[in-house]
Amino acid sequence: MRTHLCAQVDVALLGQKVELCGWCHNYRDHGGVIFIDLRDKSGLVQLVCDPNSPAYAQANAVRHEFVLIAHGTVRLRGEGLENPKLKTGKLEVVLTHLCIENKSLTPPIAIGDFSVNEDLRLQYRFLDLRAPRSYEIFKMRSSVAKAVRDCLDSLDFLEIETPMLAKTTPEGARDFLIPSRVHDGAFFALPQSPQIFKQILMIAGMDRYYQIVKCFRDEDLRADRQPEFTQVDVEMSFCTQEDVLEVAETLLQAVFKSVGIEVATPFKRLDYMEAMENYGSDKPDLRFELPLVEVGDLFVDSNNEIFKSIASDPKKNRFKALRVPGGDTLSRKYLSEAESFVRAFGAQGLAYIQLKAEGAKGPLLKFISPEGLQTLLARTQAQVGDLIFFGAGAKKIVWDYMGRLRLKLAQDLGLIDTNAFNLLWVVDFPMFEQAEGKLSAAHHPFTMPKNLESEDLEDMRSIAYDIVLNGVELGGGSVRIHQEEIQAKVFELLGISPQEAQEKFGFFLEALKYGAPPHGGFALGLDRLVMLLAKVPSIRDVIAFPKTQKATCLLSQAPSQASEEQLRELHIRLRNPKRKHS
Ligand code: AMO
Repeated sequence: MRTHLCAQVDVALLGQKVELCGWCHNYRDHGGVIFIDLRDKSGLVQLVCDPNSPAYAQANAVRHEFVLIAHGTVRLRGEGLENPKLKTGKLEVVLTHLCIENKSLTPPIAIGDFSVNEDLRLQYRFLDLRAPRSYEIFKMRSSVAKAVRDCLDSLDFLEIETPMLAKTTPEGARDFLIPSRVHDGAFFALPQSPQIFKQILMIAGMDRYYQIVKCFRDEDLRADRQPEFTQVDVEMSFCTQEDVLEVAETLLQAVFKSVGIEVATPFKRLDYMEAMENYGSDKPDLRFELPLVEVGDLFVDSNNEIFKSIASDPKKNRFKALRVPGGDTLSRKYLSEAESFVRAFGAQGLAYIQLKAEGAKGPLLKFISPEGLQTLLARTQAQVGDLIFFGAGAKKIVWDYMGRLRLKLAQDLGLIDTNAFNLLWVVDFPMFEQAEGKLSAAHHPFTMPKNLESEDLEDMRSIAYDIVLNGVELGGGSVRIHQEEIQAKVFELLGISPQEAQEKFGFFLEALKYGAPPHGGFALGLDRLVMLLAKVPSIRDVIAFPKTQKATCLLSQAPSQASEEQLRELHIRLRNPKRKHS
């Protein structure tokens, strides 16, 4: 039907006849001469038609988003009429024939205008996706998926599918349940990941597995979270942590290369504790430095009782200094905003000192000895013109708000190189985490502990690792437990009774009894990866039909109500049958 894509029209085609297909992006009538911007996935080209043209009547009837098949001759635009913003901006196609293949209602959104209300864009996603920029994103996503398959295939991994109608998995988010028609009162769970099945594939001797797979988690949504998302899921047998990290690095290097970016291996590594102590986060953005520096020891003898008591319990508490180079120029308003910012994350306040030419200034100085101050300045490498923020209190809270402040400062002060791709391993995660008095697995309960003999559960580490890209958790994985006794011990520590373990994961525990090989793996969030590569702000931009923050699909209006007959077949009676969903 066409000889070229719109954006392929270039000077080499001057004087030649072309046939182009696409949508009317825009039209103008300039003193009887009609200009149409024709758009396809590649971009735009200008069509022009004067009243003497045989195509005139058709051109005159064209409106936004009409589908057009255009025949014409390529020529240079007149002097001063060029559009430097367009790849085809020097040229135009003089219409000899125009077919309106289809009409369109007036579109409720302008194609390619990403500032339009997002709900409207999602409702009319078929129009929204027509923007060439969207095409580029999905082309990139497709290249990434191909690079994943090519790379893992070359490393001898098999692509194997695992069930979607499954049983609860160990990631610990809420499950999406599917009622069974055949089994009254029983439910499938959509997989939060293929974790158990991929481990069973290792027990089954498949040796190296991967899958580009949909996962489902019913959790609160954010810019980098969707209820259904895609993982590049990998598992391998007879491997150490080093073997797994090497595969992940080779894979990521190949993926980056497929979109024209070179990244060097091995990636930098940080121990979990180092990450928390120095950057206040287990996914630190290392495109900039701004480290947190521990200064608690300088306040142990402070004349301020609160500081003194915080500083005297270094197992529980932290006293962190954050030096902002040149920060003395920060306005009072900014400093007060920074304080409100950290208060929202549990800080009691935000002390600071300013390093003036005439000496240090700030309320905190009263509580530190002159020698202490000298040590503090040396330790933070502070210089005249800098400002140092302080956070003190329970360590998890201090890490969290100082880590967030570090990020905010870097953003506000423009310290982030937005062209950089900073890949980082965070290793040696804790085995357990405590939330609301309950112990849970920090990664998942099948993760191999590093020091199972540790008395203190807080000190127990696991052979688990996360891959972080520009401060976003891109993926995670672990070496798994392959021996039944260790698995039983971990369940016991987690307070999972043998009955409960049997009920939830019995089929897996049974498999573990039949010669499970040492194995480990990882999963990358494909949507997050493409979001970062495409430098777009939301994961929704790289998913063709995403859900909103409220977990609905505005295009198809899902979820929707089921008929009485469907519910009866599924043995379900609703608690609030009259409730309407919008
Ligand atoms: P984990 O739960 O860390 O590990 O998930 C791996 C990666 O998947 C992505 N991800 C998400 N992306 C978008 N929306 C979500 N709701 C979402 N949740 C997770 C993240 C994350 O790093 N089975 C283990 C992996 C393993 O041990 O091999 C797992 O699923 O990028």
